[in-house]
Amino acid sequence: MIPETFKALRAEQISDKIAKPVLREIPLSDLPENEVLIKVHYSSLNYKDALSATGNRGITRNYPHTPGIDSCGTVVYSADPHVKKGDQVLVCGYDLGMNTPGGFGQYIQVPGSWVMPLPEGLGFRDSMMLGTAGFTAALAIHQMELNGQSPASGPILVTGAGGGLGSLAINILAHTGYHVIAATGKTEETEYFTSLGATEIIGREQLDDQSGKLLLRPRWAGVIDTVGGNILSTSIRACLKHGNVAVCGNALSHEFQTTVYPFILNGINLLGIDSATCDMELRKLVWDKLADDWRPAMLKLISKEISLDQLPENIENILHGKIRGRVFVNME
Ligand SMILES: NC(=O)c1ccc[n+]([C@@H]2O[C@H](COP(=O)([O-])OP(=O)(O)OC[C@H]3O[C@@H](n4cnc5c(N)ncnc54)[C@H](OP(=O)(O)O)[C@@H]3O)[C@@H](O)[C@H]2O)c1
Repeated sequence: MIPETFKALRAEQISDKIAKPVLREIPLSDLPENEVLIKVHYSSLNYKDALSATGNRGITRNYPHTPGIDSCGTVVYSADPHVKKGDQVLVCGYDLGMNTPGGFGQYIQVPGSWVMPLPEGLGFRDSMMLGTAGFTAALAIHQMELNGQSPASGPILVTGAGGGLGSLAINILAHTGYHVIAATGKTEETEYFTSLGATEIIGREQLDDQSGKLLLRPRWAGVIDTVGGNILSTSIRACLKHGNVAVCGNALSHEFQTTVYPFILNGINLLGIDSATCDMELRKLVWDKLADDWRPAMLKLISKEISLDQLPENIENILHGKIRGRVFVNME
């Protein structure tokens, strides 16, 4: 039976400020009129959700709002012929949790074109342990390999290594035969990074080159960058010839400085990674890899399950870089 109300974590505007998010009971009729209604079983916490939950207008224009860019669940109603009642599905990215009420609510109502069948072999919990972070890590590796990257090319640097995206990238890369260098502010977590398969662990300060040199001693053949800023700039300048640098995030800064020299003298390729609007065919292909050969062996070590009412404290923690790996949310 479809209830008249459901629980959701709401970010609300009080005068001109966004208050600390709170749990509310929301009428189902408040959901936007889209084709597919889904009962959400699990969601997950991403950095972007924390920004949306705390009033970042670049992500969410209007409040009150339910964040949550990730969700998986069961279809309870569908007006889309490609999606059937009872289907087990994933909805990640697009506008979910940005300006469309998101996965931190027990129900979502979304366009049929956003709905993807749960990949075979992946349960609800596993799919949200991975979530957008896992999908983005795998999409970055996929795009790098399409561009010629292979374990034989040399080591891969992963920045923001202790975060969700970074941890999953390390684990997938290591288990597909890459030598991985983890760059982190949490160098004391040696055991964690070693368990994920990192061969080297370096402090993020090593990637804050201030020499002004146009090119640096080459140290890696590819980069998965989740932080931006001078760390990205340093990573590009220290990349081996014809290396791929996958630009995924901005945890440090949305800006970075460069010259044309890494590109015209070393043939470095800058690959932009966009999980949100990624084409459905490519989305399915990458999720299928995650459910199969690329399934991170240490998924349980990387991920922590929380309940909906534990989200506010975890949102604070992710904003302050205090979370290691992934947090996923049991929505029951
Ligand atoms: N392109 C896409 O489609 C896409 C998809 C998902 C995420 N993202 C972006 O990717 C980034 C990472 O996402 P996530 O979910 O993995 O976030 P997360 O779990 O919060 O991880 C972010 C990591 O960045 C590092 N970091 C934080 N503040 C830093 C600073 N001031 N200087 C240097 N490093 C810093 C920390 O790594 P250490 O703990 O190792 O120090 C932190 O764990 C975010 O910017 C997010 O918006 C983009």
